[in-house]
Amino acid sequence: MRLLVLNGPNLNLLGEREPEHYGQASWAEIEAGLRRRAVELGVELDCRQHSSEGGMIDILHATRHEVDGVILNAGAYTHYGYALRDAIAAISPPVIEVHLSLPESREEWRHVSVIAPVCIGRIAGFGALSYELALEAFARRVRSEGAESR
Ligand code: DQA
Repeated sequence: MRLLVLNGPNLNLLGEREPEHYGQASWAEIEAGLRRRAVELGVELDCRQHSSEGGMIDILHATRHEVDGVILNAGAYTHYGYALRDAIAAISPPVIEVHLSLPESREEWRHVSVIAPVCIGRIAGFGALSYELALEAFARRVRSEGAESR
């Protein structure tokens, strides 16, 4: 199984950025842990970041035939990115929405996710572990699909 891990704007600054919300770990550290878990689960990861909505959409389009799923932290585009929402609806790989923080416990404008209705699930509030839980969810989903077809 091959998964795209796609981060949106400002997530390249993890570790420096508002650590009270997003923790002390840099993306490089989080990615290293995620890759270790991916090896254990036999999953191949393609990790990317883009700061613009259009850039994220281009990555979703370009990888849509190459990946079996997407772990997506869309950053603030989560809350108003309608073009991103349409891009998720347009592609066939399933998408899991992830957040380090729990948006519902923060400002009201973060309580809406325009991408949630086109994602298969959502994991939020567990810090860096949110990404690992999404990876785990994809791996277990594939395993249970395999068991069902036997
Ligand atoms: C975030 C939550 C968003 O509201 C915010 O704009 C981010 C990060 C998170 O991971 O908690 O950039 O997606």
